Amino acid sequence: MTHTAATPMRAIILFDSKTSGGSTDRLIDSIGQKLAETGAYVEKAKCKSTGDYSFVKEFDVVIMGAPIYYLVVSSELLGALIQSNLKSCLSGKKIALFLTCGSPELMANLLYLPQLKLNLIGSNIIAEKIFAPDQTSDPAVIAKYVDELNEAYRKGQ
Ligand SMILES: Cc1cc2nc3c(=O)[nH]c(=O)nc-3n(C[C@H](O)[C@H](O)[C@H](O)COP(=O)(O)O)c2cc1C
Repeated sequence: MTHTAATPMRAIILFDSKTSGGSTDRLIDSIGQKLAETGAYVEKAKCKSTGDYSFVKEFDVVIMGAPIYYLVVSSELLGALIQSNLKSCLSGKKIALFLTCGSPELMANLLYLPQLKLNLIGSNIIAEKIFAPDQTSDPAVIAKYVDELNEAYRKGQ
């Protein structure tokens, strides 16, 4: 299907967190709201490592992210990439990544982001962002991530 300016982007936010109503929950709500304001159709789904991700095929962009707990990306998202059909369902999709964590960005880029990216070799990653604790509720930081994502999406159309 060819997308024009009149065809809204369809985005799914796949996330995991052990904390209901925590910083990741609030962050994905803000990302979703900001994206919707730019005209996108947005849904969100909490990952299960053994889930069936066939529904992902209905979306143009897959936004994936989770917190770090004890040096590892939250287990249901990482597990889904390793154990489920998620990876095969991502074929041909534009992917945006995010992490929430307390470590400095350099450490997160070296230690945490590769845990996702090693499972996404060959994928079309159009945006990535490490959100520090004070950034998960910062409208300017969230808007910048959404703008980058939108711009990269449009360029790739
Ligand atoms: C039990 C626990 C372990 C954590 N371990 C790490 C860690 O190893 N590295 C890190 O950068 N941040 C770590 N954090 C910080 C979280 O990644 C960060 O606070 C995140 O935003 C929490 O997301 P949530 O509110 O959705 O649970 C940890 C937090 C908790 C509660």
